[in-house]
Amino acid sequence: MSLKKTLSSIVAGAFEAAGYDGKYGDVVVSQRRDLADYQCNGALPAAKPYKKNPRQIAEEVVDNLSGHEAFTDVSLAGPGFINLRLSDEFLASFVSKMAEDGSGRMGVDLVETPQMVLVDYGGPNVAKPLHIGHLRAPVIGESIKRLSRFLGHDTLGDIHMGDWGLQMGQIITELKYRDPDMVYFDPHFEGEYPAESPVTIEDLEEIYPIASGKCKADPEWMAAAQEATADLQNGRPGYIALWRHFVDVSKVDLKKNYDKLEVEFDLWLGESDVQDLIPKMVEQLVDEGHAVRSDGALVVPVAQEDDKKEIAPLMLVKSNESVGYGTTDLATILMRVRDQNPDAILYVVDGRQQYHFRQVFRAAYKSGIADQEKVSLEHNYFGTVNGKDGKPFKTREGGVMRLEDLIEMVVEKAYERMAEIDAAADYPPEERAEIARQVGIAALKFADLVNHRTGDYVFDLDRFSSFEGRTGPYLLYAVVRTRSILRKAAEQGLTAGKILPAASEAEREVYMKLLELPETLEYAFETRAPNHLCDFAYNLATLFNRFYREHHILTESDKARQASWLGLSRLTADVLTLTLDLLGISVPERM
Ligand code: ARG
Repeated sequence: MSLKKTLSSIVAGAFEAAGYDGKYGDVVVSQRRDLADYQCNGALPAAKPYKKNPRQIAEEVVDNLSGHEAFTDVSLAGPGFINLRLSDEFLASFVSKMAEDGSGRMGVDLVETPQMVLVDYGGPNVAKPLHIGHLRAPVIGESIKRLSRFLGHDTLGDIHMGDWGLQMGQIITELKYRDPDMVYFDPHFEGEYPAESPVTIEDLEEIYPIASGKCKADPEWMAAAQEATADLQNGRPGYIALWRHFVDVSKVDLKKNYDKLEVEFDLWLGESDVQDLIPKMVEQLVDEGHAVRSDGALVVPVAQEDDKKEIAPLMLVKSNESVGYGTTDLATILMRVRDQNPDAILYVVDGRQQYHFRQVFRAAYKSGIADQEKVSLEHNYFGTVNGKDGKPFKTREGGVMRLEDLIEMVVEKAYERMAEIDAAADYPPEERAEIARQVGIAALKFADLVNHRTGDYVFDLDRFSSFEGRTGPYLLYAVVRTRSILRKAAEQGLTAGKILPAASEAEREVYMKLLELPETLEYAFETRAPNHLCDFAYNLATLFNRFYREHHILTESDKARQASWLGLSRLTADVLTLTLDLLGISVPERM
């Protein structure tokens, strides 16, 4: 059990012994660390139901707690706060347990009731290059997925590719223009289509902007692209064969980029995977009266009486018989309920799609495609990455910032920064390159995750990549340096030993922070907000650095104390490594 839960149950016992409900016993880390370590505020809400002065209740609880071995001081403060000062032995015993937890869980319990959690993140569109707008979904989604899994939930991440849209018809049309004699365009062709793709990813990257540009400029091109899209969606064999190639070629490229970002999907499903489900779904929605005709289209009204702003019906089937984004997302819920039976589907998608998800979720609940009691549909949205001008971040020339170029840029910067502090200077080039990649990715991801996901932030590579301040590189460096102390100690024949009661305030603060790990993880997951992990890691690293500055571990003459400090160093490095891993950030062996 975590420190906080243990303390809460001790205080709950004291409430009960005085005749009150134990639920008032919950403790929190004290707001006033000069006065207390933890505090319980339960006497205040207890006052009303028991019709008593909160101070009086608190006093009775304080009496019951005094003399308990966990505390050196229990006192009443203000209108009825109970201040708790923990004994050094009690604190150390918890840190020891954490250090000796051989499971890799660092004393964090698995959840009691695991849920099936499906995280929908990534959302790249096949055959279009990834750009900066595709950065946050994988970064935030990966962290939420890892956290969910670590806590013990049955968790799957699905990339949910946009692989069925207009861009396909646009590319097909442009290809046909360039090379009309390809077999894919011969309606009478009955043989096997070539196994080899007629286009590479570079071709697609060259073709797509031209194709989409022509469609924007010329309605005739647009009409042709729409027709090709419709033909594809109706199963025209040559187009399906071409489309397969586009998807396969794109996937290889997507995987390459996501690998660099250390993002890994369990499911590579996409919009195309649910198309078979749509006709029956539509039929059922019509039969059950959830879908209605409107101007030749089929729509699902989703407005509710208490809406402050009007919310339009979800477009199910357009008057030209085509189906769109909302229909596909609805069918995807249907498929997920059928295949994974999730307790929660977390959509880590741009905040500009809030309206879309509101419509989709309402339609899903209303129609019973998802049972509101059983499945939590959540849009865990995020804000925009801006430039210093406060507008979405662009290249220096004002163009769209491709994700690949962005990654290259941060890795370049990492090299520069490493040179500034002489890091990895004489390592083999491959190792240096890998370290630079890790430092660059840590800079990029941490800078993104440290902000609450719903806010926008300004892309400032100089700040993100610094080895000082609230940054990924600072944290990597903290871990690497701690590990190097442990290595040096090992070379001198010194090993970590039993954690002793803290001998200094600086040391005690590290203990206190370490013991906040379980609740930090829980809270970050419950709020789907990895920024809490960033704060925790940064605060822990800072406290540890202070401790490290104040004590000379390797030259300490008290051997038991030295062994305890080495134990604390190892535990801190392990906890930081775990926390970074849950953020999707990996730590180099050395630097
Ligand atoms: N492909 C979409 C886009 O680029 C994002 C998909 C997000 N996930 C979803 N289930 N709608 O906007």
